[in-house]
Amino acid sequence: MSRHYNLDKVTTIRLMKKKAKGEKIVCLTAYDYPFARILDEAGVDLILVGDSAANVVYGMKTTLTIGMDEMVYHTRAVANAVRRALVVSDMPFLSYQVSKERAIENAGRFLQVGAEAVKVEGAGPVLDTIQHLVEYGIPVMGHLGLTPQAVHKLGGYRLQARRREEQEQLVKDARALQEAGCFALVLEKVPGEVAAEVTRDLRIPVIGIGAGSQCDGQVLVLQDMLGMFEEPAFKFVKRYAELGQMVRQAVINYIDEVRSGKFPGPEHTFFTDEGR
Ligand code: KIV
Repeated sequence: MSRHYNLDKVTTIRLMKKKAKGEKIVCLTAYDYPFARILDEAGVDLILVGDSAANVVYGMKTTLTIGMDEMVYHTRAVANAVRRALVVSDMPFLSYQVSKERAIENAGRFLQVGAEAVKVEGAGPVLDTIQHLVEYGIPVMGHLGLTPQAVHKLGGYRLQARRREEQEQLVKDARALQEAGCFALVLEKVPGEVAAEVTRDLRIPVIGIGAGSQCDGQVLVLQDMLGMFEEPAFKFVKRYAELGQMVRQAVINYIDEVRSGKFPGPEHTFFTDEGR
């Protein structure tokens, strides 16, 4: 197999160049081979193996309860599918906070199964760890604003950076992540004007989710934008399909046809030479 990237391959450097050229960066989450393949073939720039897998794959209430083993398993499946997009794995709760050594070991596990970068939440206490990871050659994406691993401290999934002091802190944290070596930053659920200010302020690309249209790129959770679940998603999610309904209807049709004997028909059946 060639050791060289294909020319079109998305890299962390290419994402930075996209920002410089004013080209929007398109990101989605994926957790398995079939969807990762479709996303990659469609031309998404960055595929995030998000710890939102806890919610949309495992049905957990928060992202705090997913662990390294599950995240590595999903990363392997996604990385097997992807040829062009940059694959980024979310470091789950407690995989990077305990010590720098533990963070390197855990991030290394993701790179060993095909991830090309990792994402961590927050700033202050994790800045040293981020710098350490980058020094060891592991690209890191930051995540500020609504950081779901801190849901209990934040008191729910509410809009962040509403007040001036919080906005100033956000700008400081974003700059600190850039200085620590992050190649990009996810900004979640903050007012559009605040996200626009952070985007203008940073050299690295800012990828928004619930952060308005002025960011350098956008990310959504795949299951939300595909309309897999009936319950209404957050205000910032646009449903581009009603896949849940489509799948349910397809399964109902199958049940009906099996029960009525309509499936399998002759076109789905093998015959002996005599029976033909
Ligand atoms: O886990 C995730 O899917 C994320 C995105 C929402 C950015 O962190």
